[in-house]
Amino acid sequence: MTGSPTTSPWQFLASHLFLKLPYPNKEFTGQTIIVTGSNIGMGLEAARHFTRLNASKVILAVRSCSKGLAAKQSIEASTKRLNVVEVWGLDLTSYDSVKAFAARVNGLERLDVVIENAAVFKFEREVQEGNEVSMTVNVISTFLLALLVVPKLRETGVKFNTLPVLTFTGSFTHADARFPERKAEKIFEELNRDDATLKQRYEVSKLIQLFCTRELANRLDKSGKSGRIVISTLNPGFVATAIMREAKWPFTWSLAIMKLLLARTPEEGGRTLVNAAYGGEETHGQYLDDCKLGTVSTFVTSEEGVETQERLWAELSEILEKTQPGIMGNI
Ligand SMILES: NC(=O)c1ccc[n+]([C@@H]2O[C@H](COP(=O)([O-])OP(=O)(O)OC[C@H]3O[C@@H](n4cnc5c(N)ncnc54)[C@H](OP(=O)(O)O)[C@@H]3O)[C@@H](O)[C@H]2O)c1
Repeated sequence: MTGSPTTSPWQFLASHLFLKLPYPNKEFTGQTIIVTGSNIGMGLEAARHFTRLNASKVILAVRSCSKGLAAKQSIEASTKRLNVVEVWGLDLTSYDSVKAFAARVNGLERLDVVIENAAVFKFEREVQEGNEVSMTVNVISTFLLALLVVPKLRETGVKFNTLPVLTFTGSFTHADARFPERKAEKIFEELNRDDATLKQRYEVSKLIQLFCTRELANRLDKSGKSGRIVISTLNPGFVATAIMREAKWPFTWSLAIMKLLLARTPEEGGRTLVNAAYGGEETHGQYLDDCKLGTVSTFVTSEEGVETQERLWAELSEILEKTQPGIMGNI
């Protein structure tokens, strides 16, 4: 394990069995909000909250437009708000799709909140855009999109004198990642070897995402460009969703029992996304847990963790520059 868990087993149990996460009630009047992976699960429930809370435009960024339209209808039926929700195609297994989506984002009048929520939990190796797919979706495309929307978020902050938010749905499981690949000279290449194990790959992808989010926050702070953005990672806890849809028996049995005993509902999980979207200076660069400031694993802040973070960022920057030359200049 790369570091201690973020909470003790007792705290985890108490949080999931007894804690009532705050029901969101502060409005997002006038705001434009993007939620990726919002046709289902927590993303859908967060989008429903944003629509109920008076956002002007809620963009469901989804890979299947038919599923997105069903989600839009469900939100409209429950909130009775029409002409707010839009369905935009975004497939994080394709860099071209991410770029096309970002080009559309640039045409928006304003962009107040982006929640990078979409992710995959893979049990079998699949390659997309030259990398193992959980790295492509959960890390590379996620940051490709992040860097492409930074200018629009900044512009919005300056134009409306606000503090836009770019937040990432992370996971407490980042602390479970063993991540021996960090010792390799090229970490992304090591993770992409044909014979690399996928065991803990999801956890590793969430750890790398957390590192890169922290580094992005640092770099934006130092960039000196006008228009400040709040960057954060949120941990929704353990939520009964379809994220492990590819899990196989007998794991599916233990998962079903765990869900029955402990899991939050997708609506409760969605509250953690909305909470992160409220932002505020105090959440910048932070890991949000149970809708408040949380603690990352000890590895993340250790000397080795800091060095790993810098190496990961350098490698990711190289990949992103190859994908979209000049992109790092957006910082
Ligand atoms: N559930 C938990 O206990 C838990 C705990 C910690 C963190 N999380 C995180 O919470 C976030 C939301 O997951 P969830 O639990 O709500 O699971 P979910 O219901 O399965 O949602 C995942 C979303 O990601 C989308 N997605 C997957 N691959 C994509 C791609 N290539 N391009 C665009 N979208 C894609 C899915 O779309 P399709 O429906 O089309 O596949 C779906 O909308 C994820 O980041 C997950 O890692 C979950």
